[in-house]
Amino acid sequence: MPIRVVFPALLALLSCIRVVAQDATERGQAQFARTCGFCHGPDANGGAEGTNLMRSALVRHDENGDLIGAVIREGRPAKGMPAVPLNSSQIADVVAFLHKRLDESDRRSPRKPAQNAAAPEASESSETNRSLHGDRRTA
Ligand code: HEC
Repeated sequence: MPIRVVFPALLALLSCIRVVAQDATERGQAQFARTCGFCHGPDANGGAEGTNLMRSALVRHDENGDLIGAVIREGRPAKGMPAVPLNSSQIADVVAFLHKRLDESDRRSPRKPAQNAAAPEASESSETNRSLHGDRRTA
């Protein structure tokens, strides 16, 4: 197939994928507002009953719903989180929305880079120690 044909087709495909991804987060936002928002707050920042999901390690470590999906399906009845009967595509939408919210709140939070910088700083100072006191392995 000539490149003249392939290239525009590829571009069209890419823009479709983008639209689909955007739709998922928008559907997820509406779904979240309907079924989760009254506990976790409409933006997932926490509400009267539910925790702030933007501070949740579980949400942060989730990959494509592998962790969040189980919490939605099974809930944590003993702790006040009911099982929510969503189907897998509704769960995928909610997960897409939560990951987008997390990206946004990371970008806004000025403390994040400082926290993340803690680890490299530590290794930097041990690097400095080595150059000041000499590396024993080579001495
Ligand atoms: C009736 C209130 C309520 C509703 C509705 C609710 N949750 Fe929760 N949710 C909670 C509470 C309370 C917890 C904390 C449970 C605990 O301490 O382990 C929680 C925990 C979670 C956690 C785990 C957070 C963590 O760090 O362990 C996730 C993820 C979550 N909810 C997502 C959702 C989603 C998505 C929905 C909608 C589909 C939803 N919740 C609906 C009350 C609710």
